[in-house]
Amino acid sequence: MDIRYEILRTLRESGGSVSGQELSRQLGITRTAVWKHIRALEEEGYEIEAVNRKGYRLAGVPDTIAAREVQSRLETKRMGKEIRYFSTIGSTNQYARRIAEEGAADGTLVIADEQTDGRGRRGRHWVTPPGEAISFTLILRPNLPPEKISMITLVMGLAVAQAVQVLYGLDAGIKWPNDVVINGKKLCGILTEMSAEINEVHYIVIGVGINANLVHFPEEIRSTATSLKLELGREVNRAELIAAVMKRFEKLNGMFERRGSLEDMADPYNRLCVNTGRQVRVLDPGGEYTGQALGIDPSGSLLVKAEDGTLNRISSGEVSVRGIYGYV
Ligand code: BTN
Repeated sequence: MDIRYEILRTLRESGGSVSGQELSRQLGITRTAVWKHIRALEEEGYEIEAVNRKGYRLAGVPDTIAAREVQSRLETKRMGKEIRYFSTIGSTNQYARRIAEEGAADGTLVIADEQTDGRGRRGRHWVTPPGEAISFTLILRPNLPPEKISMITLVMGLAVAQAVQVLYGLDAGIKWPNDVVINGKKLCGILTEMSAEINEVHYIVIGVGINANLVHFPEEIRSTATSLKLELGREVNRAELIAAVMKRFEKLNGMFERRGSLEDMADPYNRLCVNTGRQVRVLDPGGEYTGQALGIDPSGSLLVKAEDGTLNRISSGEVSVRGIYGYV
């Protein structure tokens, strides 16, 4: 048992103060030991007020995404059951794949404060400066056939967009299949990778990068990227957002795995999908064309009505879709 994690969780859940005696009883340690752990938490940046005779109260938390801070906020059963935290790492996806090969459990969450070799889709680089961004990778071992896995990325996109809406009241949308956007600019990217045989998935890793408190972006993405800090004009607590995303993802993913399709969430997805009703350019290797996006079907494909009137189903992962007036 991680005692400091238990102390944080107890103080957080109480919403007020908890006596040293109560903590010592609950945790089975002496009051002096409680006091020592409280001091150690203070050294990590937590503000813990000693309330006269009433005990301890959590008055402030550092903006850390270290395992203990995220874990003490999680309200999930499966997602984040085990957490591996790194202050710096090459790429959480790459690390997650390695430990998944070695047998890491379903629901393991890899979190990093900084990535030195963060990866985006199509071999692009993903920027993750320390103390500002959110980057994590979730390892899952779903009991689904490989051809259904691309849908899970849409599930994660929806979870992130909903968490951002609920926590901050921002008008977050989804650019199909899974970029989360605000005001037409990219807030979050998702990279799902899979290890499978023809009809059996070994594991998947879902990597999520959210521009939480970034304000400076490299020149090449400055006009198309945004962050929560830029949109809100204040910093956000990154651990709180990770926990909120996990909670929503666990619920939505449960619906997805039960059905084996996005049937139960196509409506909420389409309400948030910024492509719906817009003109898009479909970069089909068999021939590019322009049409109007109508939203997704239960398999996660984007329905596009081409200019010649034909209705096409675009599978995520196979074909790219671009807005014709810019990034969205
Ligand atoms: C995209 O290109 O839109 C996908 C970006 C995915 C970035 C995340 S950050 C956490 C995880 N680790 C990586 O190296 N990439 C993903």
